[in-house]
Amino acid sequence: MSVLIAPSILSADFGNLERDSKMLNNSKADWFHIDIMDGVFVPNISFGMPVLNAIQKHAKKPLDVHLMIIDPDRYVETFAELGAEILTVHQEACTHLHRTIQNIKSFRIKAGVALNPHTPINVLESIIDDIDLVCIMSVNPGFGGQSFIEKTYDKIKELKLLIKKNDSDCLIEIDGGVTDKNASKLISSGADVLVAGSYVFKANDPLENILLLKNQ
Ligand code: DX5
Ligand code: ZN
Repeated sequence: MSVLIAPSILSADFGNLERDSKMLNNSKADWFHIDIMDGVFVPNISFGMPVLNAIQKHAKKPLDVHLMIIDPDRYVETFAELGAEILTVHQEACTHLHRTIQNIKSFRIKAGVALNPHTPINVLESIIDDIDLVCIMSVNPGFGGQSFIEKTYDKIKELKLLIKKNDSDCLIEIDGGVTDKNASKLISSGADVLVAGSYVFKANDPLENILLLKNQ
C-alpha cells in the first residue's frame, strides 16, 4: 500500500473552505484531516461542528477527525453523525480509553488513539488489538507550522513492532511538521499515513506538494 496523505484543514483558508476542499478532492490526497481543539487539552481553539458540517458538504474523501479535547466521549456521537470515518482521541485525555474506543466503534466508524510526544508507545499494549489507527504526534499538539521532533522515528519503529507482535492491521499516522524532507524516512520507519498542514496549504502549489509526499 502506498502512503496515505491527509492534509490538515487547520492550515486552509477559512474564508475559502469550499475552494480548498475542492482542491483536495481533485488532488492525490487520500483523507481530509480535521483538527478539533478545545482550548483546554491544548492551548488553542480551532473550530467546531458548524465548520465541520460546512467542510463535509464539499469533501469527497474520508474525514479523519483528530479530537484534541478533554473527555471526548461527550462528542463521539456528534462527530460520527457529522460524517467522521476515522475518529481519533488522545490517550492523555481519556480516563477510560477502552470504553471510549468501544463507544466510537459502536457507530461503525474507525477508532484512533493519538499520543503526545512525551507519551511512550507502551501505553498502547493493552489496547492495540482494539484500535484501527495510532496517531503519533511529532509536534506538541495545538498549532500548525511547528518543527518536527526527531524522536518520532524511534517511536514509529517501536509501534511497528507492537503492531506486528499482535498481528494487528492498525495504521500508523504521523502528525506535525511533515514535509518532503522527512517523509521518506517516516515511511521507511513504518508510517502509513502522513498528515501535513502548512506544507500543503502554505505552498505556492498545494497539488504539487501533495504529489511530492505521495510519491515518496
Ligand atoms: C497540530 C495538529 C496538526 C497540524 C499539523 O496540533 O494536530 O494536524 O495541523 O500542521 P503542520 O503540518 O503544519 O505541522
Ligand atoms: Zn492533527
